[in-house]
Amino acid sequence: MAFDTIISNGTIATAVDTYTADIGISDGMIAAIADSLPREQGKNIIDAKGKYVFPGGIDVHTHLDMPFGGTTSSDDFATGTRAALYGGTTTLIDFAIQGKGQSLRTAFDTWMKKADGKAHCDYGFHCIITDLPDARIEEMGQMVREGVSTFKLFMAYPGVLMLDDGSIFKALRATAKNGGMVCMHAENGSAIDVIVQQALAEGKTAPKYHALTRPTTAEAEAVSRAIALAEMAGAPLYIVHLSCNDALEKVREARDRGLPVYAETCPQYLYLSLDNFDAPGFEGAKYVFTPPLREKWHQDKLWQGLKHDQLQVVSTDHCPFCYKEQKEMGKGDFTKIPNGGPGIEHRMSLVYSGGVASGRFNVNRFVEIVSTTPAKLFGLYPRKGAIAVGSDADLVVFDAQRKHTISATTHHMRVDYSMFEGITVTGMPDLVMSRGRVMVEGEQFHGKPGTGNFLKRAAYSGT
Ligand code: URP
Ligand code: ZN
Ligand code: ZN
Repeated sequence: MAFDTIISNGTIATAVDTYTADIGISDGMIAAIADSLPREQGKNIIDAKGKYVFPGGIDVHTHLDMPFGGTTSSDDFATGTRAALYGGTTTLIDFAIQGKGQSLRTAFDTWMKKADGKAHCDYGFHCIITDLPDARIEEMGQMVREGVSTFKLFMAYPGVLMLDDGSIFKALRATAKNGGMVCMHAENGSAIDVIVQQALAEGKTAPKYHALTRPTTAEAEAVSRAIALAEMAGAPLYIVHLSCNDALEKVREARDRGLPVYAETCPQYLYLSLDNFDAPGFEGAKYVFTPPLREKWHQDKLWQGLKHDQLQVVSTDHCPFCYKEQKEMGKGDFTKIPNGGPGIEHRMSLVYSGGVASGRFNVNRFVEIVSTTPAKLFGLYPRKGAIAVGSDADLVVFDAQRKHTISATTHHMRVDYSMFEGITVTGMPDLVMSRGRVMVEGEQFHGKPGTGNFLKRAAYSGT
């Protein structure tokens, strides 16, 4: 048998196993896994001795080229997917936003055009629903059949993105029938708006007030309401960017009752806290995103939640805006700061470092959190998220010993600051492969825009 590439002697780590073997790759797929494959059978040999081989990372929450608050996120599908690959993420799921009065199809077509000819890695879409008259409910089923099987709904941003409870319930009931799943931005937007208006009236305009006007209770209440609505509808539910212990408790209770409720957190909630707003001048704006940063003690609760499967996934919610000119739009009024932060590049290293290198959980749980569970929950498994014969050869050769200090001076995202500036991680990708093609080798990038494919995802089938 001949292979295009053999990855030899790596320590393969999946969600269930850790073992040393060779991987034979042909036509972009894993064709063989064996103790030892004859070297002469491979056109290219990659020596992975002493390194881990992981299935490529899957980031199920990114916002590339996304209009928000009068500007657009600074990474597009070319720069964002390139940065993702540098960090070992080989698949992402972005969000196509339905404008009010628009069809879901228009949103999907618009985002397909944004990615077409640009993406370096494979990608799928969720659809953000901002407007749900009854006529659109049937369209949700069509989207599921076309591989856009998940829908993000907002319980925050009244008047802009927020849906009322009746519409949310209708959407959940629709997914219970059509095989889709709702991804919920859970914060009580109406209550938050009252607190925000009061803060502004009191002259509290600095970036930290974005966080101080969005209490953890507002997130926990919305998570609890979303769970109740999903339970009534008989639908699965995925909570996005969960930030605090209060909200985590609601998810844990629901899962203990056997409900199909899942949640993700993001590296910013695991590493950063309200203390970041002590940054000089207006620099707190770098940490303005929703839900906001919390008191530091929440971090360990979230890590424990990941360990004990109360949280299933770490995504990035990558939504970068440059500090100069974009974040600065909110000088004198925190509500005008574009919400979002950059993170697509460092998810794998941050979770490995804080999770595995720090002894919080093992390498198999790491793979489950950053790759296998995202693939299963979002209809991509076993094509993605697995190291198995027949799976796409999306693979990461990972040096678990290599240390790296994160900095905007060396990162590959198109944004002028890093949320994780100065944090040293243990564990970095050495080589990243997408469908059998080496995309990243150390600092070298071999990708070409447009080689990433749209992924038609399957309907929800649990984990
Ligand atoms: O602040 C954030 N998270 N911006 C991106 C949009 C969202 O709510 O996920
Ligand atoms: Zn959100
Ligand atoms: Zn988001």
